[in-house]
Order: sequence, then C-alpha cells, then structure tokens
Amino acid sequence: MSYDLIVIGSGPGGYVCAIRAAQLGMKVAVVEKMKTLGGTCLNIGCIPSKALLYASEMFDEAAHGLGALGVVVAPPKLDLGAMMKHKDDTVAANVNGVAYLFKKNKIDWVSGEGRIAAPEKVIVKAADGKETTIETKAIVIATGSDVARLPGVEIDEKTVVSSTGALSLPAPPKKLIVVGAGVIGLELGSVWRRLGAEVTVVEFLDRVLTGIDGEVAKLMQRTLEKQGLVFHLGHKVTKVEKAGAGVKATIEPAAGGEAKTIDADIVLVAIGRRPFTEGLGLEAMGVKTDRGQVVVDAHYATNVPRIYAIGDVIRGPMLAHKAEDEGVALAELLAGQAGHVNYGVIPNVVYTTPEVASVGKSEEELKAEGVAYAVGKFPFTANGRARAMRHTDGFVKVLADAASDRVLGGHIVGFGAGEMIHEIAVLMEFGGSAEDLARTCHAHPTMSEAVKEAAMAVAKRAIHI
Ligand code: FAD
Ligand code: NAI
Repeated sequence: MSYDLIVIGSGPGGYVCAIRAAQLGMKVAVVEKMKTLGGTCLNIGCIPSKALLYASEMFDEAAHGLGALGVVVAPPKLDLGAMMKHKDDTVAANVNGVAYLFKKNKIDWVSGEGRIAAPEKVIVKAADGKETTIETKAIVIATGSDVARLPGVEIDEKTVVSSTGALSLPAPPKKLIVVGAGVIGLELGSVWRRLGAEVTVVEFLDRVLTGIDGEVAKLMQRTLEKQGLVFHLGHKVTKVEKAGAGVKATIEPAAGGEAKTIDADIVLVAIGRRPFTEGLGLEAMGVKTDRGQVVVDAHYATNVPRIYAIGDVIRGPMLAHKAEDEGVALAELLAGQAGHVNYGVIPNVVYTTPEVASVGKSEEELKAEGVAYAVGKFPFTANGRARAMRHTDGFVKVLADAASDRVLGGHIVGFGAGEMIHEIAVLMEFGGSAEDLARTCHAHPTMSEAVKEAAMAVAKRAIHI
C-alpha cells in the first residue's frame, strides 16, 4: 500500500487534515488505534462532556428554573442510564459521521498502532498483533494528548478517575473531590454537582480558570460557589489513599503549611493534559521534542523532512478547533497552497452555566505587554432578552486599542456566550474596531445586543446603562 499522505491519529486534527488533503487530490490513509474514529474529542472529550453538560443542565433547570417561568413540574427524577445513553448515542453519531466522511473522500482507515520506521514508511500493529507496512510521501503526526498524572496517585478510573472515568460514573457520587480548577474540573464538577454530588475543588493556584481574564474568572468562581461548588484555592493534593469504598485525600497549602484530609467517594484528577507520542518511534527517527511536544516550524514541519505534526501534540492551546484549523492549513501547505492559522484569534469556551467565552487578549495580558487599551462592558441584567429568559448572569467585555480602537480581545460570561463570541472573532479577523461593532445593527431582542452595547461602551456611549 502506498499513499501521498499518512496521518497518524484520527482526532479533530488528524481527520480534518485527511479530509482536506483528500479534497485537494491526495491519496490518504489514517492510522488509528482506537475502535472508533474521532480521537479524544469525539470519543472521550468535547462531545460526551457536552452531552452530559446539556442533559444535567436540563435536570437542574427542571428542578430549580422552570417554576419561576410558571412551568410547574414535579421534582425531576434522575435516570442516569438514559442520560448516559444520550451521551453514548451522541458520540456514536459523531464518530460514525467521521467514518462516513472517510468513505465519501476515499480515505483508508488503517486500524492499529502506528510507528514511524522511516519518513516514507509507517508500520501499523493491529489489535491482533499483525503488522502491516504502508508507504507514503509524507507523514502527519496527530497523536493528540493524554491525561497528566498526579505523582504517586494511581488513576484506576473507578474511585480515582480522569475525565474519561468521570464521563461514565455508574451513579452520582455523594462526595466528589476535583483536583484542578481548570476547564475539565469546572465542567465535569458542574455535571456531577447538578446531579447531586457535593463537589470540592482543590486548586494549586490562587484562582480558577488560569489563562482566562481575571475579572471573568472571579465572577465564575462566585457563580459556581452559589451553585454549590466548594473551592480550596492555593492548595495541592499530596496523597490519595483508598478508605473503605471511597478515598481520603490529603491536601496542604501550596505555599506550605498544615495538611488536612478530605473524604470522598471519588477523586477526579484534572490537572492538565500532556502531548502523547509513546510508541511512535520518534527518538529512533531523530524527531525533536521539547517537554513532550513535537517541535515544528511555522509550517508544521518537524526537523525530519516529510514528517509533520499538528494538534495537541505540538505547541499552543489544546483545543479541538485549533487542531482542526492546523489540519486544514497543513493539507493546503502540502498541496502548495498558502494554509495559515491566526493564533491571535482562537476562541476559548468553557461550557459551565453560565458559559465563559473569550477570544484575543485578556486585560492581564495587555497590561503585561504595556498596551494602552480601553474597556467597554455591558451586563446581561440590562438586556431585555436575557431578562425574558431569566438568564441575566454575566457580562460582555470588549477590549480595544486606546489609540486605534482596534478590538484586541472579547470576553463573555453568559447564557450562549460560546455562540456570541464568534462575532467578536470575525471582527478581529478583519482587524475591526469597537466602532465597527458598535455601528453594526443587531436584532432586538437578542443577547447579542449586549456585545454591541459593550462595543459602544468602549467610547462611553452605551445606551442601556
Ligand atoms: P486527539 O483528539 O487526542 O486524537 C489523537 C488520536 O491519535 C487518538 O484517537 C489516539 O488514539 C490516536 N493515536 C495516538 N497515537 C497513535 C498511534 N501511535 N497510532 C495510531 N493512533 C494513535 N477541546 C475543545 O476545543 N472543546 C471542548 O469542549 C473540549 N472538551 C474536552 C473535554 C475533555 C474531557 C477532554 C479530555 C478534552 C476536551 N477538549 C476540548 C480538548 C480536545 O479534545 C483536544 O484538543 C483535541 O481532541 C485534540 O485533537 P488532536 O487531533 O490533536 O488529538
Ligand atoms: P487545565 O490546564 O485547564 O487546568 C488544570 C488545573 O489544574 C490548573 O488550574 C492547574 O493550576 C491545576 N493543577 C495542576 N497541578 C495541580 C495539583 N497538583 N493540585 C491542584 N491543582 C493542580 O487542564 P484540564 O482542566 O485538565 O484540561 C486539559 C485540557 O483540555 C485543557 O488544556 C483544555 O484546553 C482542554 N479542554 C478544553 C475544554 C473546552 O474547550 N471547553 C474542555 C475540557 C478540556
């Protein structure tokens, strides 16, 4: 078997790269060792987590939200089996969708674990141990990432779980400890809080959602506390021991101090992810890595000719859409076109209630860079549609260059923030100003009017506050 391109890994980076390359006329094979296509994102990441987040939000809404709208329902009962089926069906529809797209684009899936034997040769070991050698003109490493481990703490996916185990618990735990107040910790902590667990989050730093604008993170912490999450910030978990059917975690202040223990049924370790390259044969090939990441140039080329890499396995945010856009850019570059990713405009969404969405720079980043900027803010409490839906939590913040008015960042906390952020992203792609956004007519009544008002507030001319 011989190909123009072999992609190792079928996550959002790999499968999208394969499809774009096939569209551009290349003969493409994808090597994937999981039983289904779609990688972390579709099987054990973005998609199943969003299915549970939505379903648990509906459960919470039925219990606490509908009454105020005059919709009186009996207290809802949890059918966790049905909720998990919804999650599994959603995953199946998505991974089958990728299989369909492979057929449509005449892409071969070579099932098994791939190892690079030469820049033109990949050896694939199937589940039954049989090895096949496939030949190619170029190789793309799109092997993604894996859960980062807490030293000395074994993840058994039963009482000590990673996100993978936390997406399939057989019953809501009475008490759940989440290690890490990052994206996974807050999303999956929210799911199990809504379904009845007491959730305690232990975070090493003195803030939640590191990397997100500080004002946004503070509001989210307060909001999640109101929802019942308990935070121990500035603390680290030093030990997790089995205690009966559950666990006992020892935590101590990050700066040093007295240790204490917390009991729980389940501990979720969510302290980040690390690039995954095990078994690929990179060392033997001389492919350079740096702290686990495959090192690439601006065109995704490694130091070894004809071997490229994209997605979670290289530098940059570990996000599905970043991996996808790199997949498209690389396929286009390989076809002689001008593929490109604008790393300054990659939206980031946290699917809590309310959602948190951001694009571009945070205030902290602008301050650190010494950029003079103007801020426009607008709260959803002053938005008619938000009031009509009782979704008044949160605000929109637009950050613009003080001299040129060019928009440098957008931050939204609110219902549907993950959808609304894209108008700021498009504006930024076109180098637009806050005034451009402020003068764009927005339909009334919509939550998006708050985005327009925040842009107007940059020039201190918001109408509704
Ligand atoms: P992956 O999706 O990790 O795919 C890599 C694939 O390579 C895997 O299928 C693996 O089996 C395969 N592979 C590895 N080595 C080999 C080998 N030697 N041979 C054959 N196959 C191999 N991102 C978002 O943008 N939005 C979200 O809402 C979101 N939610 C998430 C929720 C959770 C719980 C998790 C864990 C992650 C989430 N992410 C989210 C992150 C997102 O999943 C990743 O950024 C994305 O999957 C990266 O894509 P990738 O193609 O680089 O790698
Ligand atoms: P993260 O990097 O978002 O957060 C990890 C947190 O754990 C950090 O706040 C860190 O300070 C803390 N931490 C590290 N070591 C610790 C320790 N020993 N004790 C206590 N706290 C500790 O990582 P997370 O949440 O695991 O997610 C991994 C990746 O998956 C993220 O980079 C994210 O990009 C991606 N993801 C994206 C989602 C989205 O876009 N909605 C959803 C879920 C994951």
